[in-house]
Amino acid sequence: MPGSAPRPLVIAPSILASDFSKLGDEVRAVDQAGADWIHLDVMDGHFVPNISFGPDVIKAMRPHSKKIFDTHLMIAPCDPYLEAFAKAGSDIITVHAEAGPHLHRSLQAIRALGKKAGVSLNPATPAAAIEHVIDMVDLILVMSVNPGFGGQAFIPSALEKISHLRAMAAGRPIDIEVDGGVTPDTAAKIAAAGANALVAGSAVFKGGTEGAYKANISAIRNAAAGARGETA
Ligand code: DX5
Ligand code: ZN
Repeated sequence: MPGSAPRPLVIAPSILASDFSKLGDEVRAVDQAGADWIHLDVMDGHFVPNISFGPDVIKAMRPHSKKIFDTHLMIAPCDPYLEAFAKAGSDIITVHAEAGPHLHRSLQAIRALGKKAGVSLNPATPAAAIEHVIDMVDLILVMSVNPGFGGQAFIPSALEKISHLRAMAAGRPIDIEVDGGVTPDTAAKIAAAGANALVAGSAVFKGGTEGAYKANISAIRNAAAGARGETA
């Protein structure tokens, strides 16, 4: 890629698919199993038709891993809660382009809190919707399912959007992350299209043991690394 080195490959297990009765153990297990980041799905029952957890639960998970906490806010409004998610220990805070009328302000607020700023696009939202904030973001999160639930099938039209966004981001240090339906089968196409950060919930947590998580993370990493011309 002219002007910038490829962004490193990142596998980010989504805690949404973990056993909520033992969140600390689950965070430690995926950390030990080789997760690069921990992906935290925050849902409000308004922006998406499901409710998950908020800043106090993230704060409780924080001491269990030193890895990057990648917080995905599926909430509207988001601005009143950004400080709470920053204080809870998030390293990256991602807001949805569809969550409010003042996306630029939300991204500025995240950076003013000293955190990396991400913007996410629902499957129905075109890449052009974030062209005006491309210099305000550290990460672009492409939803490859309609947000709200784990375990849904990957929507193939996300691939073209990933390529478009990678071209749009060229020369900038922006991670392109994909979320929804990521498995060892879809990971190669996703990486080949230009995404470098892969979120996976059900494909990581199936099996329910640290050993299973390790094998699951490796399978996704190997598939993506192969498509990048790397050995994992
Ligand atoms: C969906 C969430 C995802 C979800 C992915 O709204 O943003 O992070 O956990 O789950 P899988 O990997 O099972 O599709
Ligand atoms: Zn997510």
